[in-house]
Amino acid sequence: MLLLNSDVFTYKNNELYCEEIKVSDLTTKFGTPLFIYSKKFFRDRFLKYQKAFEEINHTIFFATKSNFNLNVMKIFYDLGAGIDVNSAGELFRALKIGADPKRLILTGVGKTKDEIKMGLENDVLLIKAESPAEIYTINKIAEELNVKARVAIRVNPNVDPQTHPYITTGLVQSKFGIPAKEAIELYIEASKMKNIQLTGIDMHIGSQITKVSPFVDSVKKLAEVYFELKELGIELDHFDIGGGMGVVYKDENPFAIEELAENLIPIFKELNCEIMFEPGRYLTANGGILATEVIYTKSNNEKNFIVVDGAMTDVLRPSIYGAYHNIQPAKINGENDIVADIVGPVCETGDFLAKDREIQKSESGDVLAVMTAGAYGMVMSSNYNARRRPPEIVVDKNKFYVTRSRETYEHLLYDENIINELHD
Ligand SMILES: Cc1ncc(COP(=O)(O)O)c(C=O)c1O
Repeated sequence: MLLLNSDVFTYKNNELYCEEIKVSDLTTKFGTPLFIYSKKFFRDRFLKYQKAFEEINHTIFFATKSNFNLNVMKIFYDLGAGIDVNSAGELFRALKIGADPKRLILTGVGKTKDEIKMGLENDVLLIKAESPAEIYTINKIAEELNVKARVAIRVNPNVDPQTHPYITTGLVQSKFGIPAKEAIELYIEASKMKNIQLTGIDMHIGSQITKVSPFVDSVKKLAEVYFELKELGIELDHFDIGGGMGVVYKDENPFAIEELAENLIPIFKELNCEIMFEPGRYLTANGGILATEVIYTKSNNEKNFIVVDGAMTDVLRPSIYGAYHNIQPAKINGENDIVADIVGPVCETGDFLAKDREIQKSESGDVLAVMTAGAYGMVMSSNYNARRRPPEIVVDKNKFYVTRSRETYEHLLYDENIINELHD
């Protein structure tokens, strides 16, 4: 049986596998909750994306905010991806894998002076500016460092990406970018700044977008700005459409990447500059699961509950967006014959992984897999309730690697001290 847009998580003899490794073998060895990723998925997805746009000059920057596991970053980097980093912490991680700063772009709506300085000192390929105040700040820091900052402006095309409001970023009401109308003025102003070299125009309209039309509409709007700037003598060498390409969690029907390419390549050819992409979720989501063990089951007159050891601290999306994640048993031993809420042990009513889900009857010790957890899973995890973050395993065919171990309680005390004077 094939699962969810991915040929790497499959059932063989009713047992769930990641590539050639049985999920329950990994949970027996490493315990639960446990993130499991497939190298094949990441690789195939990246190459598919690259192939779809092969006829144009382009670079794919992996949006590492979706999954900042060092080895996952390195898998994409080694395939030729650049990396889109959204903070000093992500930049630090990218440098840790040995990434060439010339393949890094620094993005984010509220980069601090220290973050901008870190980007400039490391000579990253470009820094994206999201407000006039930020451009002034970049110019000032670049002057202090005696460098010229390569800067692209994130323009907000005011197009509805038709996705969840919390992950809609390209509408004028959202905090991101600069409205297209104001962008020209800002480019003119920035072009006069001594320590700024304007290199491109960028957008990112939202996440989990399943239709091509918001991309086409936004690219057309930004292309107008691009050509207007050209007429004004401001020549840009790249056009970045951000990320946001949607994936299957349940029954969505997202566009194929080839369809996006077919619609955008004619516009890109007219632009005649380097095209940049920043996909995150598309490259990682269906390449990972969170395996979790059933602790207890219980029922009242209204509901069945399956209490598992995974929680909102591991996969937060259901709690904050009401997001749907398919949940599959690691071993199929019956029909989906009950309806249950699958909940974690955290002291919050919002701590659930699934609501009213049809699933086979479970008992303590059974292992369930929260599917599509390769993106915005571990990166959004927390230590709430002093829970330890799970390990992350990467499977490569019939081998598996512990890329990060389970946190210890000592990890949670890192740099925290009892101050004796406070307790005199
Ligand atoms: C600027 C930027 N680029 C890329 C991404 C990646 O988006 P996705 O994972 O939906 O592809 C995000 C996500 O928030 C973003 O803010």
